[in-house]
Amino acid sequence: MNGLRTCVFPCAGFGTRFFPATKVIPKEMLPLVDKPILQYGIEEARGSGMDKLIIVTSQGKDSIIDHFDRSSSLERSLREREKFDLLSEVEAVSSMVDLIAVRQKDALGLGHAVLTARDAVGNDPFAVVLPDDVILSDEPCLAQMRRVFEETGRPVVALMEVAPEETSRYGIVAGEMKGNRRFKVSDMVEKPKTDPPSSYAIIGRYILPPEIFPLLEKTQRGAGGEIQLTDALRQLVQSGDFYGYVFEGRRYDAGEKLGYLKATVDYALRHPALGKEFAAYLQGLFGNGKAIDREAAADSGRAARSEKPRQRV
Ligand code: G1P
Repeated sequence: MNGLRTCVFPCAGFGTRFFPATKVIPKEMLPLVDKPILQYGIEEARGSGMDKLIIVTSQGKDSIIDHFDRSSSLERSLREREKFDLLSEVEAVSSMVDLIAVRQKDALGLGHAVLTARDAVGNDPFAVVLPDDVILSDEPCLAQMRRVFEETGRPVVALMEVAPEETSRYGIVAGEMKGNRRFKVSDMVEKPKTDPPSSYAIIGRYILPPEIFPLLEKTQRGAGGEIQLTDALRQLVQSGDFYGYVFEGRRYDAGEKLGYLKATVDYALRHPALGKEFAAYLQGLFGNGKAIDREAAADSGRAARSEKPRQRV
């Protein structure tokens, strides 16, 4: 198994793309249907064979740790009121995992957040999950990547093809597609403003060796004035084979409003208890050409406010 049992979850960011909702509530705790966003990442790591889970938090994020902790008074109250279904749901979360929490004291970027977990990780390979990147797939994304890691013993990042106008929002890899969804990485650049080296973007799943830590220590501030994980990975690429894996599944950027809404709809439609009724509700909204009526209504509203009508493409 190459000893891969550790997963780091950087959760220290301010969540500015979701203000004002995330002024006080950590974005990782926003509910996606009935579970906080972070819980999907935790379940993915657990479902990929990882049992040492490290959360990198910052001030004001204690509710993350509380969510996965036991709540004796709540459990007692549910037991007394014989609400056994709810009790087992609550207990399932607290018994899911024992988390190790480390604090990132300064908001110096993703690379710095990962470096903060150094002592907790120790001298073993580890995965990193960026909880905003929620991935809906038959087989957990990390489990797909784990196979490449176990076969090669080399670092692996998750990749997704993106449109040319989106490359400036991601770390973009250079290299060669080898087939079987594997990409041999020769270089990478964080959020290229021009000339992206390919259309393959790094998505928030990484499997890394502990050798990344001394590289992170030496990494200077890069894009956005932050210590970037991508810049340390660039150094790692120089030291031997480095793979990208074009995962099977659909990824949502649940850390921003539109991505979150899309994820909510898709996860709600798949929810065992809610999916059918929710689908019927959407059908009622958008079925029988009503969606077109709504657009027309929106357009006439716009015209009434003497705005330029939206161009359709
Ligand atoms: C981070 C990484 C970037 C990666 C992205 C995936 O950026 O720095 O390389 O492509 O996550 O979501 P962020 O979105 O945190 O700015």
